[in-house]
Amino acid sequence: MRVSISQLKDMKQKGDKIAMLTAYDYSTARIIDATGIPLILVGDSLGMVVLGYKSTIPVTMEEMLHHTKAVVRGTRKAMVIGDMPFMTYHISVSDALRNATRFIQEGGAQAIKLEGGVTVAEKVSHIVNCGIPVMGHIGLTPQSIHQLGGYKVQGKTEAAAARLLNDARALEQAGAFAVVLETVPSPLSRLITQQISIPTIGIGAGADCDGQVQVINDILGLFTDFVPKHAKQYAKLADIMSRAITQYHNEVKEGIFPADKQSFSMDESLLARLK
Ligand code: KIV
Repeated sequence: MRVSISQLKDMKQKGDKIAMLTAYDYSTARIIDATGIPLILVGDSLGMVVLGYKSTIPVTMEEMLHHTKAVVRGTRKAMVIGDMPFMTYHISVSDALRNATRFIQEGGAQAIKLEGGVTVAEKVSHIVNCGIPVMGHIGLTPQSIHQLGGYKVQGKTEAAAARLLNDARALEQAGAFAVVLETVPSPLSRLITQQISIPTIGIGAGADCDGQVQVINDILGLFTDFVPKHAKQYAKLADIMSRAITQYHNEVKEGIFPADKQSFSMDESLLARLK
């Protein structure tokens, strides 16, 4: 059985921290799933770290579904959450329902995530009422980057902090099973975490959230365009890959690769007839 939303609620109540990571492909999802990480997000960060877009805004439903299917095929235990792309849940409730359904029906995900608080609460409630678990996402919401004016810390004034608390409560009331808090001051995340009954999953939101989420390419040192302040590099895979690729390149040029071990033999006398 995969991780369920009731298990996540229990984890919050017991104080067991929840780890979530992004994944975008089959091989990586298999590795993550085998470690026992309970939540895998097929984030629209896909757009930046896999597809090379400058932001998450160009990401489409088709791209998200393509990668969600791969991640689902690579997992057995983790709950896979599909991230609703920009403008796939804003225009109407029926749009939001149709696109959320596609993640579950075509993509094979067990839940969806969308950005926004009070403004999307009605949509969240409709999606949840159809039996689709929804994770909210407030604070720095990258799909609204032009509105926010950059990748800045959110909730720093009294009014902004009150708005975020309100957003978290609206998502809880709408039936969301968890909420991501992105780039929010730690004391405000602590307060929100205390005030709502659903798990908070932080990214750049301090240690007092019920869980943490990171982009896999950031923590493995695979994304080299920039390293966000909230990310810790547990490995430098880009360096390891670069060394391995350089060695392969040199060995091909020097005729060292492939050796007999990587080659296939046959009875060479048979070739005499072809000459
Ligand atoms: O798209 C993503 O990877 C996300 C996480 C950073 C929460 O939304």
